[in-house]
Amino acid sequence: MATSQPDDPPADLLALLACPVTGEPLRLAGTLADGLLTSPAGRAYPVIGGVPRLLPPDLLRPLLERAHPEFADRWPAVRATVAEAAPPDPAVLDTLAAYDYQHVELADAALPIDEWRATWSRFQPGIEPRAFAGQTVLEVGCGEGRHGWLVGEHARRLVGLDLSRGVEVARLRDRRPNTLYVQGDLHRPPLLPGGFDALYSNGVLHHTPDPRAAFDAVRPLVRPGGRIFVWVYGLDGMTWWYRASHLSWLRPLTNRLPRPAQVAVAAAGTAALEAAVWAPARALRRVGLDPLAARLPFADAADRPLRAKLRRVFDRLNPPVTHYLDADTLRGWMADLDDVTVVDAAGQGWSARGRVPTG
Ligand SMILES: C[S@@+](CC[C@H](N)C(=O)[O-])C[C@H]1O[C@@H](n2cnc3c(N)ncnc32)[C@H](O)[C@@H]1O
Repeated sequence: MATSQPDDPPADLLALLACPVTGEPLRLAGTLADGLLTSPAGRAYPVIGGVPRLLPPDLLRPLLERAHPEFADRWPAVRATVAEAAPPDPAVLDTLAAYDYQHVELADAALPIDEWRATWSRFQPGIEPRAFAGQTVLEVGCGEGRHGWLVGEHARRLVGLDLSRGVEVARLRDRRPNTLYVQGDLHRPPLLPGGFDALYSNGVLHHTPDPRAAFDAVRPLVRPGGRIFVWVYGLDGMTWWYRASHLSWLRPLTNRLPRPAQVAVAAAGTAALEAAVWAPARALRRVGLDPLAARLPFADAADRPLRAKLRRVFDRLNPPVTHYLDADTLRGWMADLDDVTVVDAAGQGWSARGRVPTG
């Protein structure tokens, strides 16, 4: 899979990037392993470990302080960029920290590609990753890159954008020259408007303070005639076990807990699911009752390592912001798109699609 070094600058991919403040194009100094992207107005953004860090200055400052305190010593130009930053939106900053923890501290070293294919098919029914062959594609909220891995195999170029350091994990796994993972805030996307043939977003917009505003912020990134694919949480009309899995009654409490306590609650939930669902599912399979095992909720995770199961439970408790959308709301978001469809994704959320008008 690895066909290039992460510090080979893919010039056509870099040309899709823009300053998150002004939208100006950026120039690379140094390498993608350790460098700087600068705008004509003089704003400077770090590139660390193959990942452009194009967070707006208010979010870039806490990232540098917490995760890369030594960077400004090597590349002092970033100091001026973050010096005048206003305080960030606390909900977005909390979301950044929450997903840093999930993607980096609870990283899953395995590459469960069959599981990634299964979630892709559930979130985007009827669209295979190969449908993006030859296209320039944007994934909004790529996390650690599980779906970028699948789509990047076919797309001409794939840019994965995420708020968190999940993009570091994505880049370590996927060093293909046609993919680029970028740390940025979708509300102020550091990308060229109209630069993409298609955009998809799986499980992201419902974790923003105002999902409609989030959709409106990324929609202009797709060219006229290009397509948009969005999967978001629903609640009403979904299966009972999907609704129950959201633990929405518990989240007001767990959102206030410190991270280690959140992990402890997730561990307790994982142990309960292991005893009630996953061990019985494995036992049923051992005696040849696979169809019965498959009917148990969450049985698809029965054979995954405990750490992966813990992450999955933690994912429900972790996000500081969660909204549940309905089909009419999604149709409203896409009212000015063509060919809009909103379908219930196997009773587990909504899959909404549309095409940007050409006229
Ligand atoms: C539930 S995860 C889904 C990740 C990925 N789409 C997947 O299916 O594996 C939600 C992701 O949305 C990202 N996210 C939340 N708010 C964001 C924002 N304002 N800008 C960019 N990404 C954001 C989080 O960092 C997190 O990685």
